[in-house]
Amino acid sequence: MRSLSVETVMPARRVRGRLHVPGDKSIAHRYALIASVADGPSRLLNYAPGADCHSTLACLRGLGVDVHEDGSAVTVLGRGLGGWCSPEGPLDAGNSGTTMRMLAGMLAAQPFTTDLIGDDSLSRRPMRRVIEPLTRMGARIEATDGHAPLRIHGTRLHAIAFRPDVPSAQVKSAVLLAGLHADGVTSVTEPAQTRDHTERALAAFGLVAQVDGLTVSLEGGQRAQGQTLAIPGDFSSAAFWMVAAAALPGSRIEIEDVGLNPTRTSLVHVLRRFGARVEVSEASAPGGEPRGTIIVEADGAGSVEIRADEVPGLIDELPAIAALAAQGGEVSVRGAAELRVKESDRIAALVAGFRGLGISAEEQPDGFVVGGAGPPSGGAADARGDHRMAMAFAIAALGARAPSRIEGADAVAISYPAFFDTLARLVV
Ligand code: S3P
Repeated sequence: MRSLSVETVMPARRVRGRLHVPGDKSIAHRYALIASVADGPSRLLNYAPGADCHSTLACLRGLGVDVHEDGSAVTVLGRGLGGWCSPEGPLDAGNSGTTMRMLAGMLAAQPFTTDLIGDDSLSRRPMRRVIEPLTRMGARIEATDGHAPLRIHGTRLHAIAFRPDVPSAQVKSAVLLAGLHADGVTSVTEPAQTRDHTERALAAFGLVAQVDGLTVSLEGGQRAQGQTLAIPGDFSSAAFWMVAAAALPGSRIEIEDVGLNPTRTSLVHVLRRFGARVEVSEASAPGGEPRGTIIVEADGAGSVEIRADEVPGLIDELPAIAALAAQGGEVSVRGAAELRVKESDRIAALVAGFRGLGISAEEQPDGFVVGGAGPPSGGAADARGDHRMAMAFAIAALGARAPSRIEGADAVAISYPAFFDTLARLVV
């Protein structure tokens, strides 16, 4: 069901300030899942506060895993490989594609049947991309035309060598996590590099995964050891402030303890191309995940073109990048048809929302061209239940000449519950 919650965003001259962003969503999901099958307890610090990562915890509780939350610290009492219990009812992944796809991989290896459900948005997203490899490994999965709800009849799995058609970290991770439970060596060879948090998380829990170019291989049956791990700030959440600072002349934003995994940080190069000054200093890499400080200052806005080969490294940042157009430059993106199967059809939602804000926008089958006609008038944009749309519209609206209404603004709770409070603090 779509929400009617509305936030009004006032025009701003610039954004200024120092901040932390919430814990990384991708890393939090992976740590929680691996911790749940580790031997011994794990303590996950700075766990992502959004609804998505809580969907993962709720599913784990449904599988008999003890999970304790104390502020942003989460303790997971690992049940060891094969220690999950058959759930009493369906497991609900909510809005979270990462939860549904990665959990499907692990459920495929359990000696019981599980129903995996999600909200309306998640039930429209393609699941064949995980059903196919997991079926090849021996599981039986029932779905409706390749969509959730999924009924997963788990079994003893055998390893496969898998070459997905789409670059997707969720698919890669689903197969690798299934492979952890399988007999033999499972490998995934990607068509392009995607985020490698699963590979790094496996190592952080004491497991061995071999990486050779675009191929990752993992021997099944390895036992993870419980760990204490601190999760860095989410670069994809930081992206909205980085874009705001780049787009509004006179801005300066400093984001501390943010994840700097190189498979996630391509936005830095895009902002430099756009004309912003971006300083990145890496401080440490506990758990194999680099983190540090990013400073962005606006230095005159330009236009920017995103090439198809850049898309996998920017997939979650493309809505934010579109907001660069709010100062009158042009942003064009090609080769990004995957945007159509995210939490919303992000190409259609973005074009409709930008037009509503008075920004010129053209839809293409695999991308969009936005902006290029001076500062927008302001207006209204519907987030269509999609957290990244709500945040992209809010940032674009900062550059408008009049106030704007962001409809369905509470979607930010999926990844960044405090987004609008932080916005209020940073605008000048
Ligand atoms: C994610 C992978 C990406 C990304 C999503 C999180 C992950 O999805 O868009 O927000 O944590 O692995 P795909 O694997 O579908 O590209």
